[in-house]
Amino acid sequence: MKSKVDIFFLDNKKLINDFAKKNISELNTSEYLKQSIEYSLVNEGKKIRPLIFLLLLDYYGIDYKKYLDVALAIELIHTYSLLHDDLPSMDNDDYRWGKLTNHKIFGEDMAVLTGDAMQTWAYELIADNKFLDNDVKIELIRLLSNFSGIKGMIAGQVYDVRQEKYKVNAEYLKNMHRLKTGKLIILPLLFSALVSNNKKDLNLLKEFGNELGIAYQIKDDILDYYGEFENIGKMSSDEDMITYLNFYGIEKCKNLLEQHTEKAKNTAYTLNNNLLIELADLLLNRKK
Ligand code: IPE
Ligand code: IPE
Ligand code: MG
Ligand code: MG
Repeated sequence: MKSKVDIFFLDNKKLINDFAKKNISELNTSEYLKQSIEYSLVNEGKKIRPLIFLLLLDYYGIDYKKYLDVALAIELIHTYSLLHDDLPSMDNDDYRWGKLTNHKIFGEDMAVLTGDAMQTWAYELIADNKFLDNDVKIELIRLLSNFSGIKGMIAGQVYDVRQEKYKVNAEYLKNMHRLKTGKLIILPLLFSALVSNNKKDLNLLKEFGNELGIAYQIKDDILDYYGEFENIGKMSSDEDMITYLNFYGIEKCKNLLEQHTEKAKNTAYTLNNNLLIELADLLLNRKK
């Protein structure tokens, strides 16, 4: 039987894709850039981060359709990070979302520029939302910058691509996951509390998201190796890097995945939020 979260995600993924498509079509810019943005944004990606944001807005009793632009901003940052992550100078991947990577179709120059364009567009979308007060917009923009930039995702990516410069141990790997993936998983949770004015939940949501984010990347490492291309839409590319999987081995990895998921669920209990418990289980058992 499908869970509530499953149903919400299935129903709303199309909403995000359609909203993205419409907004791209209205951009006054190069048609080639628009094609490139659409190619990587409107597709079979799970849209898990904006969906978490919308799910919680709904939980907090907010009309989430007023904030699709903010949801799109979150997905734009994620998508830009993957366009750059797939480049030959980084992970050098040829497939993403079941099709050729952006640079394979549009060229490396365009993949860099498309990522850049996605990132700056994200901030503009938040600034232009018609329903938020300016002080909330500033909080969102500040958080987005903090979590995706120097102190967040980018730092994690540096720890990933330049491992040889550091001493890689268990603590290092956990920190890398916390930054490169965890930060963008925590972000939509905090966004929902800020937009709905539920600041009392911020700390516990952060705690929940931190554990969920580490679990999410452990699962990604496992799927990269054991998953089916038809499901995950990408090839295994981590051979030269130290990942949770080659550091710990599969059995220990599965244990860690369960442990972090369990910790996340305990925090969800404290928040008295069943949806978050369902979400943690959904991500634990995902096939893609
Ligand atoms: C892939 O993220 C990279 C990580 C940060 C783990 P997703 O699995 O969420 O990406 P989509 O769903 O393909 O866009
Ligand atoms: C991607 O990590 C994380 C970010 C882009 C921030 P990975 O390189 O492990 O993810 P995949 O396997 O390419 O999706
Ligand atoms: Mg990478
Ligand atoms: Mg990669």
